Amino acid sequence: MERKEKYNLAIAGATGAVGQEMMQILEERNFPVGELRLLASERSQGRKYSFCGREITVSVLGEDSFRGIDIALFSAGSERSRKYADCAVASGAVVIDNSSAFRMDPEIPLVIPEINAQAAALHVKKGIVANPNCTTAVAIMALKPIHDVSRIKRVVATSFQAVSGAGAGGIAELESQVRSWSESKEPPRETNTFPHQIAFNVIPHIDSFTESGYTKEEMKLHNETRKILGDDSIVLTATTVRVPVFRSHSVSLNLETERKVTIEEAREAIRNFPGVSLVDDPENSDYPMPVESSGKDDCFIGRIREDYTVKNGLSLWVSGDQLRKGAALNAVQIAELLVRNHV
Ligand code: A2P
Repeated sequence: MERKEKYNLAIAGATGAVGQEMMQILEERNFPVGELRLLASERSQGRKYSFCGREITVSVLGEDSFRGIDIALFSAGSERSRKYADCAVASGAVVIDNSSAFRMDPEIPLVIPEINAQAAALHVKKGIVANPNCTTAVAIMALKPIHDVSRIKRVVATSFQAVSGAGAGGIAELESQVRSWSESKEPPRETNTFPHQIAFNVIPHIDSFTESGYTKEEMKLHNETRKILGDDSIVLTATTVRVPVFRSHSVSLNLETERKVTIEEAREAIRNFPGVSLVDDPENSDYPMPVESSGKDDCFIGRIREDYTVKNGLSLWVSGDQLRKGAALNAVQIAELLVRNHV
């Protein structure tokens, strides 16, 4: 990316949960924004948002939306990414895409700056950098420090995923069901975003089921973890679960490493790794939880213990704000990387 004082940015999906977080993070981190173009569907045309003291009006995402744009942040769903990312690239923008559309394309880098920043330069091939799935991003921030101590061979992951991972509609659905329960003691039965009532429930079903019996969300964890770590010998089996939490995904991780990693080695590796914090004082009931990790940039790791049932086994627990590290923050960090390294 050519060196400039300021960069023109577009956010496709600006009115959504991730799009709104992107705006906030760009402002918080003082990203050198020239023009900021906010794009969404016709439903949102004309809506106004304030950004760094300016008022910006939302326009409709279309083929001509990207003229003069340097960096286009996409968070309007896979269908829109497939339809419009090429238009953005043809207009001269680099696309940072938050959907699953391009993540497993071997010519498109899938990047977490703390883990594989060097891969971002690969975007020159297609003009697109992919942002990982939100659960993968949170889980891998806990896996990588351990993987650096001793190669991880196998992972059993169980996720506890917040409703905001399903977008603004997920937040609205939990809110309305809780409100209805508090008024009449009956959560409404009708659902739009989730397959079942989410208030006072947990749903072991995120994204659609594949023939193998795993959901697509579960297979994303397996496939994306391998791609980001650049290690196709790792195997990961996942169960992904939606829980009635507004924000922050948590993941229980059980690992088998090549050699034994002690609890103290794991703690030390986590203390020294960027973007994570150790919260591991069970005696004082201190461990990571969504209420603490919400709104924070770091992913929080704790409950570290040796798994006594297998050789070289370790169990741990991570909680991270999936709208931040799992989506908007990681996308902005990728943009910072492109600008800083002129790649
Ligand atoms: P809109 O608010 O106008 O529907 P979330 O994941 O939180 O639901 O957000 C999805 C984002 O993607 C929103 O900004 C939404 O805009 C946008 N979006 C959804 N469908 C389209 C579409 N057909 N064209 C453009 N933007 C869309």
